Amino acid sequence: MKETKQADGIVCMLTERIDKELLENTHHLKIIANMAVGYDNIDIEVAKKHNIIVTNTPDVLTETTADLTFSLLMATARRMTEASDYIREDKWGHWSPFLLAGTDIHHKKLGIVGMGRIGEAVAKRAKGFGMSILYNNRTRKYEKEKELNAVYTEFDNLLSEADFIISLVPLTNRTKHLFNKQAFQKMKKSAIFINVSRGGTMDEKALVNALKSQEITAAGLDVFEDEPIPSDHPLVRLDNAICLPHIGSASIETRKAMLHLCMENVVSFFDGNGPKTPVFE
Ligand code: DGY
Repeated sequence: MKETKQADGIVCMLTERIDKELLENTHHLKIIANMAVGYDNIDIEVAKKHNIIVTNTPDVLTETTADLTFSLLMATARRMTEASDYIREDKWGHWSPFLLAGTDIHHKKLGIVGMGRIGEAVAKRAKGFGMSILYNNRTRKYEKEKELNAVYTEFDNLLSEADFIISLVPLTNRTKHLFNKQAFQKMKKSAIFINVSRGGTMDEKALVNALKSQEITAAGLDVFEDEPIPSDHPLVRLDNAICLPHIGSASIETRKAMLHLCMENVVSFFDGNGPKTPVFE
């Protein structure tokens, strides 16, 4: 707080809360450069009110995050962490027909909730696996539907039809706990839920219940409501959930590019050339 009070600019990560109290206790703050594409850690309305610019790091992490999303989907469907633990725990006695049998990915139905840049990049990967794609988004993307072979559908329909459901929506008041008890109840028993956007888009207690009661088959999670989570978190304790520590964009190349863009925003702004990637004009 002491440092931010006097600062002209703040470079921050998604784990830093830039809230009303912090913002209203600054004297010279002109720019906040967030090293993430999501910016739910920043009170945007208060920043706007005080004419403080906010920047994020779009585009540079799209493909890397889509890679992780699709890998997590595959690892969850094919029970890869469970299978790896099986060997570590010295349980591999003999081959048997249904030992660690998972779910097919190819030619299944993928439901993408939040068709932004990352959603589109995930859809491209899914197309290569012969999957059919349903999507739900705040606005319809007519021009992308043909290219991605994606069909727009209502949220509830996507929940009941898709084999895999991926949360890629940003966290806002509208999307908080979008995936709640009712949403999990609408999914197929065989559904696999993947969350790579923000933990707040799902009601974790409802998800734990849905996984424990096998209302849905499995979940692959890179994000949680309250990060970091401890090893005794109920989701970590479940065999049918894979939990990762928010590593969607974590490749060396992409993290370097994010850092670079973050700093470029600050330098360009103070050089008088304006921010490169502001989140609002
Ligand atoms: C983001 O950028 O918002 C991701 O969650 C971290 O890369």
